[in-house]
Amino acid sequence: MNASTPSPAQNQASTTTLYGGVTNRRVTVRDLAAAKQRGEKWSMLTAYDALTAGVFDEAGIPVLLVGDSAGNCHLGYETTVPVTMDQMVMLSAAVVRGTKRSMIVADLPFGSYQESPAQAMHNAARLMKEAGVGAVKLEGGERSARSIELLVEAGVPVMAHIGLTPQSVHALGGYPVQGRGDEAAHQLLRDAKAVQQSGAFAVVLEAVPAELAAQVTEQLAIPTVGIGGGPDTDAQVLVWTDMAGMTAGRVPKFVKQYADLRTVLGDAARAYAQDVRTGAFPAAEHSFT
Ligand code: KIV
Repeated sequence: MNASTPSPAQNQASTTTLYGGVTNRRVTVRDLAAAKQRGEKWSMLTAYDALTAGVFDEAGIPVLLVGDSAGNCHLGYETTVPVTMDQMVMLSAAVVRGTKRSMIVADLPFGSYQESPAQAMHNAARLMKEAGVGAVKLEGGERSARSIELLVEAGVPVMAHIGLTPQSVHALGGYPVQGRGDEAAHQLLRDAKAVQQSGAFAVVLEAVPAELAAQVTEQLAIPTVGIGGGPDTDAQVLVWTDMAGMTAGRVPKFVKQYADLRTVLGDAARAYAQDVRTGAFPAAEHSFT
């Protein structure tokens, strides 16, 4: 048995836990379904390039999302609306190349699936064939059900996204919490059931009251992935630049910052510039004789 061949113990582990268990292959939708059965919570982070995605893959993050949040977090737009299919294909291909074990889910950006199920299929196929992702994500509950159904029938794993749907920022007039009040809560439940019925393998619940997210999670057989949905969803997702303290300015209330990378990187850049100014860099050990 060579070093890369999993031992019987490792094979056993891959059926019992997502963390450290899936050592020699990518996480699949079946692993995520099994995790829900076991009541095992899992994490998802966004990624937009090969380097960062490789760090998260090595850290054992089971699912990476090439979110269209790349618009605001990576490409310098104010919202996700301008992001194009060509950009998503390029970023997703880089994330796939930088990883070995994480499942890679890519967003269908605004305007790439709303026209018809056929348009959704055309663009999902681009993400799978040109970028090599394992699944796609699209926004909308009942309104996206027909597209989800067609994609799933065609063999495309679909993660749905309901509650606050950032591609609708202009229609919503910002990023308000969703599902507040009886009618909105009932609509969220209908949306959740519609995407499950259509064959989605998981559903993101964004910015909804914690009690409602817990209720949806209890009523669904597929995993729920919360972002601003409280502690009771099956999984959690955060935008990596928020999670690691790279984002400039205010971050949403639901973000926990696990590092202060913006300060670390800024300090490194300032120290480098200072060394160049003073002649301290490059020193003899950085120079060729
Ligand atoms: O684009 C994105 O990053 C997302 C997450 C916020 C779920 O959709």
